[in-house]
Amino acid sequence: MTNSTQNLSKNPTIVDNKPTIMQLEAGKYYWCSCGLSTNQPFCNGGHKGTEFTPVAFEITEKQTVAVCQCKYTANAPFCDGSHIKLDSASSAHA
Ligand code: FES
Repeated sequence: MTNSTQNLSKNPTIVDNKPTIMQLEAGKYYWCSCGLSTNQPFCNGGHKGTEFTPVAFEITEKQTVAVCQCKYTANAPFCDGSHIKLDSASSAHA
């Protein structure tokens, strides 16, 4: 799912319309907020040239988390259910 025409957009690129469930070890991570990273859900520097910056977060102990892949969460980097509202608006995208 690539959409490089959104590189300079103010809207993030929707990577998926659902979160990715991951088991993360304790440590510091950088969540991709632009949707352009090829190392989803983490930053790989793909935001360069956009107004997006990665969101740093820390996991203090090994745990399973739901990481936002639609990039519209208000609780980054975690899914807050916002992707449900996008489903109808972006169904042509899928
Ligand atoms: S995947 Fe983004 S809010 Fe759920």
